[in-house]
Amino acid sequence: MAPNPFTLEGKTILVTGASSGIGRSTAVACSQMRATVVVNGRNEARLDATLALMAPGSHVKAAGDLTGDVAAIVAPLPKLDGVVHCAGIGHSKLCKQIEAEDIDLVMGVNFKAPVLLQAELLKQRKVNKGASIVFVASIGYDYPNVANGIYCASKGALVSYANCLKLELAPRLIRVNVISPGMVWTDLIVHGGMTEETLREDEQNNYLFHQYNQPEDIAHLAVYLLSDATRRMTGSNILFSAGAKRL
Ligand SMILES: NC(=O)c1ccc[n+]([C@@H]2O[C@H](COP(=O)([O-])OP(=O)(O)OC[C@H]3O[C@@H](n4cnc5c(N)ncnc54)[C@H](OP(=O)(O)O)[C@@H]3O)[C@@H](O)[C@H]2O)c1
Repeated sequence: MAPNPFTLEGKTILVTGASSGIGRSTAVACSQMRATVVVNGRNEARLDATLALMAPGSHVKAAGDLTGDVAAIVAPLPKLDGVVHCAGIGHSKLCKQIEAEDIDLVMGVNFKAPVLLQAELLKQRKVNKGASIVFVASIGYDYPNVANGIYCASKGALVSYANCLKLELAPRLIRVNVISPGMVWTDLIVHGGMTEETLREDEQNNYLFHQYNQPEDIAHLAVYLLSDATRRMTGSNILFSAGAKRL
């Protein structure tokens, strides 16, 4: 039988944001594709809930705040064949109301944390030759929304950074790609300030299939980018808009 190019068998993958939403689905999907998965998030109970959903394996919990002591989180990790930088927060404020703390908060989690985590993983030699690095940005980096200025900017910064990182890691055949999702049904939007009624109306009226993404839709793309099927793919930023009509 021909080898399956989509399997993650034999690979060890770190997924941040694995205690919820897209990161949780990605961790589960990676385990189903036979990877060993290292899950990160701050909330240990919710990480345990993720582990309980995963296919059996020698999965590892690496709980911790990525805006804190990242070196300590990285030190005990095994060598990695893939990283999905999924942890992030939403933010909603009109531009005229933005204060310095808003910038520190959102850029801190959505930009500074993945950049410093990635640097620490490289410094501590945790990333194997031929690995795959995936960043979860947002279509917002290029498609504006009212009251979403800092969030969109944090994702734009991530896209630009990933584009440079790919150059530095290419000599070791490490690829760097970005997934930019449109709306996905997770806590980030459900608790993001819009009522569920407004979200359902938006989903009905402004999406070609009248459906937002589900977390597993993004997870399956992450698996593809982590697998050998994409071993020569680097520097891509894939929009996963769920057919948002305004794009
Ligand atoms: N949902 C959408 O519509 C959508 C669209 C485009 C892009 N995205 C992006 O997708 C990613 C995942 O979001 P989601 O929708 O799945 O949201 P979510 O369900 O709220 O999950 C966010 C995850 O980030 C983790 N996290 C937040 N702050 C952290 C910190 N300081 N240190 C470590 N982990 C932290 C949370 O874990 P703990 O609370 O346990 O720390 C949680 O696991 C984010 O980067 C988001 O910007 C989402």
